Amino acid sequence: MAEGLEQSGGMDCERKITTYEQVCQAIEATLEGETDLLAAMATVVCLLHHAFDAYFWTGFYRRMGPERLLIGPYQGTLGCLEITFDRGVCGACARSGQTVLVPDVHQFPGHIACDAASKSEIVVPVFDRAGRLIAVFDVDSDQYNAFDEVDQRYLEQIMVLLSRFDVAPVYRLSLT
Ligand code: SME
Repeated sequence: MAEGLEQSGGMDCERKITTYEQVCQAIEATLEGETDLLAAMATVVCLLHHAFDAYFWTGFYRRMGPERLLIGPYQGTLGCLEITFDRGVCGACARSGQTVLVPDVHQFPGHIACDAASKSEIVVPVFDRAGRLIAVFDVDSDQYNAFDEVDQRYLEQIMVLLSRFDVAPVYRLSLT
């Protein structure tokens, strides 16, 4: 956690965990029997975005080429459409295949400011069942230091659920 930044998220740890547990159950129940990845992504975005006040922008960037991300389902203000792997927090996540936690976006070299109100961010990779990166999941907050290891743990757990969904054939081709 970055020091010197106002602790935010507006939620104590216990409440955050309880909310994530409820959201995880709601996601699993809603997606039971569903096989389409875009439908699953839209559901995940909606349920998470409305569960947390700290979530200002919530959405997926889908991998649409070897090093290209394109906007997917999201909620919030207008997101930029395309991000290459060499740019921004999303690009850093896509390159490394690791979650990136950014307590203060103004301190992150190359951060892409789709909305000037964004102050902190977490980006989590999404893999298919073969372990290929198919998307990144990006959450921005209008508060500093909004995300921590609890968010990381639950969001990574939720992204694992997406590995079982079918990627549309035209999209799958772009991964090769
Ligand atoms: N801030 C991101 C870009 C996406 S928007 O925040 C919606 C980045 O630096 O990759």
